[in-house]
Formats: sequence, structure tokens, C-alpha cells
Amino acid sequence: MAMTDNNALPNPFTPGAGAYPPVLAGRETEQSILLDGLQKISHPTRGGPVNMLLLAAPRGMGKTVLLSWLRRQAADRSVHVVDAKAGDIFDLVALGGALWPESRTEPARLTGIDVGIVSAEWQPGHADSRASHIRTNLKEHLIEATDQRPSLVQVDEAHTLAPEVANALCNLSQSLTEAGRPVWLVLAGTPGLQAHLMSSSVQASFVERADVLSPNCLSRDASVAALEIADWSDWEIDASVIAQAADDTQGFPFFVQRWGHALWNAGRDSRSVTGDTLQAARVDVDYARRGFYARRFREIHDHEDPRLVVAAATLAKVLSMRTSLSLAEVTSAIKEAIPDHVEAVRAREHLESVGLIQMRADEFTGGIPSLLAYLADQAS
Ligand SMILES: Nc1ncnc2c1ncn2[C@@H]1O[C@H](COP(=O)(O)OP(=O)(O)OP(=O)(O)O)[C@@H](O)[C@H]1O
Ligand SMILES: [Mg+2]
Repeated sequence: MAMTDNNALPNPFTPGAGAYPPVLAGRETEQSILLDGLQKISHPTRGGPVNMLLLAAPRGMGKTVLLSWLRRQAADRSVHVVDAKAGDIFDLVALGGALWPESRTEPARLTGIDVGIVSAEWQPGHADSRASHIRTNLKEHLIEATDQRPSLVQVDEAHTLAPEVANALCNLSQSLTEAGRPVWLVLAGTPGLQAHLMSSSVQASFVERADVLSPNCLSRDASVAALEIADWSDWEIDASVIAQAADDTQGFPFFVQRWGHALWNAGRDSRSVTGDTLQAARVDVDYARRGFYARRFREIHDHEDPRLVVAAATLAKVLSMRTSLSLAEVTSAIKEAIPDHVEAVRAREHLESVGLIQMRADEFTGGIPSLLAYLADQAS
């Protein structure tokens, strides 16, 4: 192939939010859990409901990509897919339009039936009949629709769902599940997702029983696999360079794509990935990575409570000496800067949602690799 042709080849790596990677690596466990759910709703004779699933992980960990993968699998099984971003379903009418597109042209149908599924606690005084009509109609519609075909409803960025929409979605899922309908609600968001859904503004306390899937950093082998793509088959590739790049990603999927992207750019003229390519690529990766960390740092630094950055720095210090902390230990480290318990808990949730720390089983560890170290450095 002539060099100009090669130059024209688009870079296959995808270091952008939500872009599908050339190789989806190291997600076998997650994929089998997701497939299992799909199989349960789409089984021809025994298809039934599946417990709501929360896909919760820090930014850049690969939630959106897993949703895309699931959507493709669902399409292969003739499952009806409703695929929404929280920002698109900003109120109940928009939710209605997403779940039931025909209702957009038939708005009367959304306000016709008079039985409420609004929970008793639902914002007294605000439980206007329009909202309850919409909810009731959606429930009836979904019951009807799932008679024909199983449905997967997936919502990305769900930690930003408007409270009334989050409440309606969770209640719908709950009542359809109770009615034995083949429907599956999958909500993806940052680790603050569950806390958001259970908060007093959403009041979906039964979400406590939802299944939670928290994809973590990729193993080293998976990072290597994500970088060893077919497009490189006729390049001269030094395997030790790929291994060094994979190590440098610390398994964080976003950094994996960053590295692949930079290696491709640096190597495409010579069609090789060598030690020199690595050095050139490292400059780009470091620059992009500093930008990524800086955005996460700003989410802490610019928070309305200026003590948050102090609390985060304290946590960073403690977690540089210990790899994991209990809930009580994390909270007490935060309380050094924010003594009030309620405020400290809110701060902990924010630090989780930013990806600084994450809870796995019953222990807190660092979230996004090296973010704690970056923060300790910036805050000092
Ligand atoms: N298993 C994987 N193998 C290789 N690359 C991956 C994998 N998962 C995700 N990526 C890549 O990592 C980056 C982040 O993925 P994605 O956008 O899905 O993360 P996210 O968790 O949705 O992040 P955000 O919270 O910012 O929306 C993308 O460039 C994506 O292509
Ligand atoms: Mg995403």
C-alpha cells in the first residue's frame, strides 16, 4: 500500500466519550451478566422480568461502550430497545416520548386514563394529575408492548436523571417486574448513581435491591489485547513497546485508547511501533492525561464547598499509605476537613461520583488510577 493511502487511513482507536473501541477487551464477566439478563427477558416460553441493573463506574471506565454492546446483542435477539440519555428525558413528557414514540403524535393518549401508579410519598402537592396520568399510561402501554416483544430500556448518564423522571422509571420497572413482564431497565452512571436514586428527592428506596455491575480497570492482558488490533497486522510491531504502553495505562480503558491513538499517529509514517514511537506517543498521552486529571480535579476544586478539596487531599494522603479503607475510616478522614456528619457524607458521595474513590464490596480504594496522586500533588 502506498504511504499516502496509509496516511489516509483513519486512526482506529477511540479515545472519545462513548466511542466503540476496535477491541472491547476484558469484559467477559460483564458481558456474560448482561447476556444472561437479555436471555431471561427474551426466552421464547419462559421470558420474564429481570431485576433492574445499575451499571456504576467512574468516568472513562467503559459504561457507555457496554451499553452499546448490549444494544447490539438485544437487536440480534429481536428485543425492543429504548436507548436514552438522561439529558434527553428531562421531564415525564420527554420520558413518554422515549418509551412510547407514537405518543408524540398522539399526546391525548398520554393524558387519557385515570388510575395512578404514583407512589404515596411522591412530592405531596406536586402530584398533579397530569404526571400521574402520564405514568399510568406509560405503564399500560409498556404492559401492552411487552405482550408483543421483550423490552430493554437503557439510560446512560442516569446519575443526572431529573428526580421525577428517575422516580417514574424506577417505579415503572418495579411494577412491570411485579406484573411478570419481560422488561429490563439498565441504568448507567457514575458511582453516585445508587445514592441519587435512593435520595429523598427521587425516593426510589427499593433501588437498594437492584443488581449493581461495576466494571473496573482492565487486567494487563486485556489492556494488551485492546492495543493489539488487526489494523496493525502488516506493521512492524515491537511487542515490548505494546507491553510498556499497556502497563502505563494502568488498565484504565480511556488511557488504553489514548495510548493506542498516540502510537498509531506516531507510527503511521514508518508503519512501525518501536521504542521511538513509544517516546513520541508518550508526549501526547501525558498531555491528554493531564487534561483528563485536571477536569476531574476541577470537579472537586470548584465544588461549592471549598473544604472538599482539603478533604480529598487528606484522603489521598491516607490512601497513599494504605490501599483500602473502611467506610468509617473514609468518613473520618473527610471529617477532619468537614466535621458535620451529613455534610461529610455528601462530600464522600461527591468524591465517589467524581471517581476519586470507589467502594468495592465493603472497602474503599482509589477510583480512576493515579487520580489520588494527581490530587495530592495539586492540593499541596
Ligand atoms: N473494554 C474496553 N476495551 C477497550 N477500550 C475500552 C473498553 N471500554 C471502554 N473503552 C474505551 O474507553 C473510553 C471510555 O469508555 P466509555 O466512554 O464507554 O466510558 P464511560 O464509563 O461511559 O465514561 P463517561 O462516564 O465519561 O461517560 C472510550 O474511548 C472507549 O472506547
Ligand atoms: Mg459514558
